[in-house]
Amino acid sequence: MTLRVIEGGLTDGRSLGLLILGASEIATLAGGLRSGPSQDQPELLRADPGRGSEAGDAPIVATWEDRIVAVGPRAMVERNLEGQGLPLARFARIDAEGGTITPGLIDPHTHLLFGGSREAELRLRMSGAGYLEILAAGGGILSTVRATRAASAEDLLAHGRRWLEEMLSHGVTTIEAKSGYGLDLPTELLLLETAFNLGREGPIDVLPTWLGAHAVPEEFRRRRDPAEAYTRRLLDEQLPGVAAQGRARFADVFCEEGVFSPDQSRRILLAAEAFGMRSRLHADELAPSGGAELAAEIGALSADHLAAPSEAGIDALAAAAQSERPVVATLLPATTWFLMADHYGPARTLIERGVPLAIGSDFNPGTSPTANLPLVMTIACLELKLTPAEALAAVTINAAHALGLGEEIGSIEPGKLADLAIWRVPSHAQIPYWPGAGLVRTVIKRGRPVYQRA
Ligand code: NIG
Ligand code: FE
Repeated sequence: MTLRVIEGGLTDGRSLGLLILGASEIATLAGGLRSGPSQDQPELLRADPGRGSEAGDAPIVATWEDRIVAVGPRAMVERNLEGQGLPLARFARIDAEGGTITPGLIDPHTHLLFGGSREAELRLRMSGAGYLEILAAGGGILSTVRATRAASAEDLLAHGRRWLEEMLSHGVTTIEAKSGYGLDLPTELLLLETAFNLGREGPIDVLPTWLGAHAVPEEFRRRRDPAEAYTRRLLDEQLPGVAAQGRARFADVFCEEGVFSPDQSRRILLAAEAFGMRSRLHADELAPSGGAELAAEIGALSADHLAAPSEAGIDALAAAAQSERPVVATLLPATTWFLMADHYGPARTLIERGVPLAIGSDFNPGTSPTANLPLVMTIACLELKLTPAEALAAVTINAAHALGLGEEIGSIEPGKLADLAIWRVPSHAQIPYWPGAGLVRTVIKRGRPVYQRA
């Protein structure tokens, strides 16, 4: 790890603080959950172009141990630090070299862990086969379930590390990671344990979600009413086992016509809530299926996908947005793109109706084999018609709220964890403008530089 240190400070690992100077722009995302017009307000601090990013009044960020302690014009921050009794000599200095500083990105919806890959299915879909049709024939999710059950713990760990490294290189500092490719208790436990261990290993924080209700496994397919028989198994055996293990923070269900019904989804999620797991759900990904309505009814943290919500579903999310417990709409446009589906989620309508919007990668081997969250921001701009600022809020402060972590991460404000990305472009508006490019120069996690572009 080499960083260009521009003056003073300690670089021997003993410095407890960082001063990040030389930014053209800092997008702080300060001020809490975004909805409606505020989704488009990233709260920018900019260097005066006439005076340059090295000027005394140029914006800087200061971190101490694992937290942000100050952000603002340099002179003000330095006075503030002295006022807090933090000696400037103890801060290492990092030069952002005219780039942009944002909060570390947060991916609120991934299927990080799985065995195998499904390029054969891409071919099938390109010649006209439908996604649920492939699943019904025992392919799709079920083929990944076979490969995942056959994978060893070491295989899964190595796979997880490989893709987390990719995410880190795109500025991601926190992700959610679902199980759901085991569909039996031992494999679901292994997936949750692996996700948990990857988070403990760091540097990315990984929040495990139990998604036992991702599909009806093959061994249930010959039962009378397979989805119902498997739902009972989930409630009687899998959920208690997962709760006893204690790794899953959230529970999720693929609530979709032909997969799990709203009634089954409700029973599973309420039972999981009783064990302390907050709800999120795959809602109305392919067709209006009552998912958005259910998310609002049970006060889920987020309703995900929403490529095809009903009018009543949108009304329910709009009503929840005015309540104490807003449901974040987490749209996953890379999935719509990769499925070659003809309609994207109604992002503009949701924003107009005051629903807070997040976006995620949905990283998985079937419908979204990309871990590149900035690329998903590009798709969100082009297809969901988000502005770059709205897309940035969707992968920072709103994604934090979608994970119940809005008070800890997602913005650059004193007191929050020092999770930051430094980009080699002069404005946040350029992040989605260069599709797929590696724009991240440095990633800071809990006050430690953990990634530096070679
Ligand atoms: O979010 N729709 C359900 N789950 C994933 C896809 C999983 C797969 O195809 O392997 C999704 O799109
Ligand atoms: Fe998903």
